[in-house]
Amino acid sequence: KKVVLAYSGGLDTSVILKWLQVEYGCEVVTFTADLGQGEELEPARRKAERAGIKDIYIEDVREEFVRDFVFPMFRANAVYEGLYLLGTSIARPLIAKRLVEIAKETGADAIAHGATGKGNDQVRFELNAYALNPDIQVIAPWRDWDLNSREKLIAFAEAHQIEVQKDKRGEAPFSVDANLLHTSSEGKVLEDPAVVAPEYVYQRTVDPETAPDKPEIVEIGFERGDAVSINGEKLSPAELLTKLNELGGKHGVGRLDLVENRFVGMKSRGIYETPGGTVLLAAHRGIEQITLDRGAAHLKDELMPRYAELIYNGFWYSPEREMLQAAIDKSQEHVSGTVSVKLYKGSADVIARSSENTIYSEAHVTFEEDMVYDQKDAEGFIKLNALRLKLLARRNMKAK
Ligand code: ARG
Ligand code: SIN
Repeated sequence: KKVVLAYSGGLDTSVILKWLQVEYGCEVVTFTADLGQGEELEPARRKAERAGIKDIYIEDVREEFVRDFVFPMFRANAVYEGLYLLGTSIARPLIAKRLVEIAKETGADAIAHGATGKGNDQVRFELNAYALNPDIQVIAPWRDWDLNSREKLIAFAEAHQIEVQKDKRGEAPFSVDANLLHTSSEGKVLEDPAVVAPEYVYQRTVDPETAPDKPEIVEIGFERGDAVSINGEKLSPAELLTKLNELGGKHGVGRLDLVENRFVGMKSRGIYETPGGTVLLAAHRGIEQITLDRGAAHLKDELMPRYAELIYNGFWYSPEREMLQAAIDKSQEHVSGTVSVKLYKGSADVIARSSENTIYSEAHVTFEEDMVYDQKDAEGFIKLNALRLKLLARRNMKAK
């Protein structure tokens, strides 16, 4: 038996690696992705080598992540439960896809991941993997083993010569998942939603209260719904998001403290930091304001919660997500132009937008005299719209 493991090089997945070798007698292939989590990947290679792994996959997938997953999602302005920008959810289909592909390349029959049996991530890894290969087998050690306390995990690590950093010996402070789009923190000190999150939880944004007193204005260029430049400089998708993270983080933009509904049914409390994504969402809505027709814009906003829920629940590779994506992508044909966003002490506000494709008509909307609009037309428009309201009002008055 051969299994491809999503391997970070951290303590948990190092234990999983060993456990797969000793308990399952598996040959393990490791896959470590650079999604922009800001961690060195070479230690993962070294650790995998030391564990005797022959096939070690280490890949920089940042461009693919932003171009093929983050950007399509941002065309929809996708937000889960009104607030969550889906930073973890959108990375899972890419990881699942590579696991399945690597399994094929190496002749493995299974994949393995380090998500627990309580969360969303197990569902996402597995639904996305099955959608791409119905015969793939999945091993989820957290659902199988009895290493369900920190103590047992450390004991297993030490018994198998797995390097345990000093600070990992005690209680893990909380669970972190990071990539180019966001950092999420859950568990431990954050578990009681009545208790305010300590400042040290935040890792990539400054406290808005201590952010610069001087605002900063960024101009973001869009082409067909995707951001392509910052302050006139063309950037690749990953470069652009990296730059926005830097700018947003410096001004304390994109912090979120949220209690959300997990797909498995329980609620969980998380702290999210999505600096660049928060700026991007504001800017994208800014350019849509002048380039999208009302009918298209409102329909898009109606579809959005459904689309966001599909991504949250792990249905990226589903026909309904693809149908919605086709509609969303169609809506973005004319969504090009530039938007200025002001960053200031935690806020990211659109302050100007312009586009060659604008449907904003100053000639029509002006409070001054105009040559294009006959105000008398509005009288009939209102009369016919009022007709049913008047009929109802008469009936109601008679009933009383
Ligand atoms: N609650 C968020 C989500 O479901 C974040 C999950 C974080 N995952 C993790 N392995 N720490 O998308
Ligand atoms: C986990 O359970 O592994 C992390 C949290 C989640 O997947 O929702």
